[in-house]
Amino acid sequence: MTLLIFGGTGTLGRQIVRKALENGFHVRCIVRNKRAANFLKEWGAELVYGDLTLPETLPLSFQGVTAIIDASTTKSDDNIELINVDWYGKLLLLELSKYAQINRFIFLSILNSEKYPYITLMQMKSRVENIIQRSGIPFTIFKYTGFFQALINQYAIPILEQKPILITLKSPTINYIDTQDAAFFCIKSLCIKEATDKVFVTGSSQGWKSEEIIYLCEKLSGQKAKTQIISIYILKVFRQITGFFEWSLKISDRLAFIEVINDTQNFTTSLEYTYDVLDINPQEILELDFYFREYFEMMLNTLENLNVSQIKKIKTSII
Ligand SMILES: NC(=O)c1ccc[n+]([C@@H]2O[C@H](COP(=O)([O-])OP(=O)(O)OC[C@H]3O[C@@H](n4cnc5c(N)ncnc54)[C@H](OP(=O)(O)O)[C@@H]3O)[C@@H](O)[C@H]2O)c1
Repeated sequence: MTLLIFGGTGTLGRQIVRKALENGFHVRCIVRNKRAANFLKEWGAELVYGDLTLPETLPLSFQGVTAIIDASTTKSDDNIELINVDWYGKLLLLELSKYAQINRFIFLSILNSEKYPYITLMQMKSRVENIIQRSGIPFTIFKYTGFFQALINQYAIPILEQKPILITLKSPTINYIDTQDAAFFCIKSLCIKEATDKVFVTGSSQGWKSEEIIYLCEKLSGQKAKTQIISIYILKVFRQITGFFEWSLKISDRLAFIEVINDTQNFTTSLEYTYDVLDINPQEILELDFYFREYFEMMLNTLENLNVSQIKKIKTSII
């Protein structure tokens, strides 16, 4: 069975490639830069040059493909680039998938995308989800809140570097997920017939509030965090003001994301449904405290070794 993966070099995409190879799939990755994607080839994937914004680069790669996993997105600040990749690029993928009669199209989306049409990325995600559901192509859609990996930049590094962490008043409980587990959900869904034509909310089974994550990081790092509290109300007002100006849309979008994250109603029921249909035991899924424990142990060891070798270097230079 040949899997065609878009976004295989990304944070989640690379875990999907690895998991697919471990499970015996033949994996073909569409990449924009073969040299930068060489690690995927070393793992055993086939690399094919392609770019979602260059339609002529894509059709040939669909030959002999059974399923597609689309983990591509743009992080560009440019709205035109975003629309080209996350809207026109996806429409093209769907057209080609229909033509190639693929057995499953897996699309990765964001929780509550449908509720925030004024955020460009969310609007694109929601519209693509709707088109997939009406396309007649067998599909599975996963909707995430966020990945553990992003929390390193948000909490762990600022604590280690003694920089301030922005938190909102009354922070919501969020079920983040490790990208390795998010990849496991995707690959598992390929082998489960009942996962066809379904939309799954996805996360680990334990939710965390910002203050709980900070407390955990403080405990594991032995350092006190510097926090700055901002109110969601002020963010909303600020977003309405900045939303008027095109130049500030990006700031506006970022602020709006905080609102999105603050809206996780009915999450638990949907999550239970996901675990149930995919027949996944929640205990198999990594929890945030284990993830952070490993991260801090590794970082603190590295820092300690760095200090010892730096001290040795200084001593040697003095001698
Ligand atoms: N990150 C999160 O917290 C989060 C939360 C919810 C949902 N999601 C969704 O999960 C998926 C994966 O997210 P991620 O954070 O892993 O993304 P990422 O790390 O930013 O990776 C994006 C991937 O898309 C590829 N790509 C970008 N532009 C392309 C183009 N024009 N043609 C072909 N490929 C292109 C990139 O390739 P290059 O290496 O060439 O740049 C990269 O492999 C996305 O659909 C995202 O919306 C993410």
